[in-house]
Amino acid sequence: MAHVTDTRSIDAAAVPLVPRFEEHELLPGPIDLRAMLDCAAPVELDIGFGKGRSLVEWAALDRDGTLLGIEIRRGLVERAHERLCRAGARGVRLLRGDFRALAPRLGPDGLVRRCYLHFPDPWWKKRHRKRQVVSAPVAAELVRLLAPGGEVCVQTDVPERAEEFRAALAGAGLDERWWSDGGAEARPFDVRSNREVRCEAAGVPVYRMVYGKPPHEARGPEVRGEGSDP
Ligand SMILES: C[S@@+](CC[C@H](N)C(=O)[O-])C[C@H]1O[C@@H](n2cnc3c(N)ncnc32)[C@H](O)[C@@H]1O
Repeated sequence: MAHVTDTRSIDAAAVPLVPRFEEHELLPGPIDLRAMLDCAAPVELDIGFGKGRSLVEWAALDRDGTLLGIEIRRGLVERAHERLCRAGARGVRLLRGDFRALAPRLGPDGLVRRCYLHFPDPWWKKRHRKRQVVSAPVAAELVRLLAPGGEVCVQTDVPERAEEFRAALAGAGLDERWWSDGGAEARPFDVRSNREVRCEAAGVPVYRMVYGKPPHEARGPEVRGEGSDP
């Protein structure tokens, strides 16, 4: 297991609480999250965390398990890493990479209690569509990774995207648990992201949804951490 953070020249007391990883530092093939990233179950995901406010807020919840933040832009991973270290955050791991490429490699199945996608796809132009994160194949991977009863929390300020996300998540077999088309009071999530705060300050409506995996699925083992509450 390779930690990207270079700790060779500093003493043990100064080793950051939040190790960072680069996708290319991981062994090729399947990624066992618990073993390779030292993640304590249950695991939650924050995909495309940007400047990292939602990671810091998650750490402040002092919940059991691990939040794994995955972000494609290195500069943002570095920024979030500094922010988490300054906050003395525990229970958060960071992985830099493209979630669309990483998702099929992640396991074991049923490990994930919750997956946050805060404002994942603001792509306006047709030629930018190829960067879209939430799609039918990614939704299918999320279903595989979710524990029975686990959930996917998505929010966006782009109405067309909201409808696309709903279609992708429902099409993958997840149940709609929550849907709201704007309004600060209609807020089922326990953490806030940077863009969410900006939208609220500007009075921009936010579309939020929670989709869940049925609690007792016939196939696949239920993976729960101690005291987990999917
Ligand atoms: C609109 S920003 C939202 C950032 C943050 N979640 C928030 O709400 O403030 C979308 C984020 O997703 C990241 N991203 C885009 N494609 C990605 C991918 N394939 N894998 C991981 N992160 C991605 C971008 O770099 C960016 O930080």
